[in-house]
Amino acid sequence: MRRVLVLYFSQTGQLHDIVRSTVAPMERNPEFEVDTVELKPSKPYPFPWPFFRFFNTFPECIYEDTEVIEPADLDAEKQYDLIIVAYTVWFLQPALPVLGFLKSEKAKRVFAGKPVITLIGCRNMWLMAQERMKELLTGLGARLIDNIVLTDTSHSAFTFYSTPMWMLFGKRGPFFNGWIPRAGISQADIDGAERFGRAIAAQLPNRDAKDDRPMLTGLGAVHVREGLIESEKTIKRSFRLWGALLRSLGKPDALARQFVILLYFLFLFLVIITVVPILAVIKMILKPLAKASIAKQREYFAAPSGESSQLLERGA
Ligand SMILES: Cc1cc2nc3c(=O)[nH]c(=O)nc-3n(C[C@H](O)[C@H](O)[C@H](O)COP(=O)(O)O)c2cc1C
Repeated sequence: MRRVLVLYFSQTGQLHDIVRSTVAPMERNPEFEVDTVELKPSKPYPFPWPFFRFFNTFPECIYEDTEVIEPADLDAEKQYDLIIVAYTVWFLQPALPVLGFLKSEKAKRVFAGKPVITLIGCRNMWLMAQERMKELLTGLGARLIDNIVLTDTSHSAFTFYSTPMWMLFGKRGPFFNGWIPRAGISQADIDGAERFGRAIAAQLPNRDAKDDRPMLTGLGAVHVREGLIESEKTIKRSFRLWGALLRSLGKPDALARQFVILLYFLFLFLVIITVVPILAVIKMILKPLAKASIAKQREYFAAPSGESSQLLERGA
């Protein structure tokens, strides 16, 4: 019998659907026992998000200012053969309820020495969040063996409109007669996540407990958008700086903080429509010179599963 623990937090149910699709092959297999635990904050986050509440959450995300979550239905003494941590990204960080759990005493007991697969469902910016996740898992003594990432594959310019429409107004689209596609991860990609569960169900029963090799290589588990590497690093630095300033102005509901947040997002919006496209053009011109360094970074961020989809092409 192989025991698998699946931990997740999902607000709209999108990540929940991805989790269901991924674990289905293991749940159907009599050699597997799958425990799924939802990470619930004591007070649910609102959805759709009120405008200020949404943007005002970024300093708390960056500085990990959140309640500790210890799910009552998680047995910390049970020994698992594999843990799947499914998370969404909030302001380039793992979503607050996931951070809240990873900082708990229960997490220390459950994760120590265990192999972990991370499963991300987000718009398209997950690199910095996964860097933080790696640090947290290492701190808990866990071993990251695979990473699966599902994103909204529409053009960034479209999701820059459709994601806020979904998060702030609950309107998912499609918009403008289908010119801007429906926000979120496509149903085909959600259904396709079953292939990861099939690969785990086939391999886990034959693995040694200390085996750290990935199980999902060749299945297209990860795609690194190289154009977002530098942007994510820059935005994270900016979030740290402005987040510190905003926190010094008081709690999220402080009036001064709401005023500065408005200024900051106006500034960010202007940067995104002016500086970002200019930088993208410069990057395109310099691309041949930076080829080797970009390839190295892609490989780093795609680890441990890698970007190859060789097995998919062969019909796996
Ligand atoms: C407060 C907040 C911040 C977000 N920040 C990001 C982000 O930095 N990068 C990203 O790709 N998606 C971001 N998203 C989108 C989420 O990762 C996710 O796709 C969306 O919330 C739906 O997930 P669900 O399964 O929890 O409903 C953000 C969403 C929220 C609510």
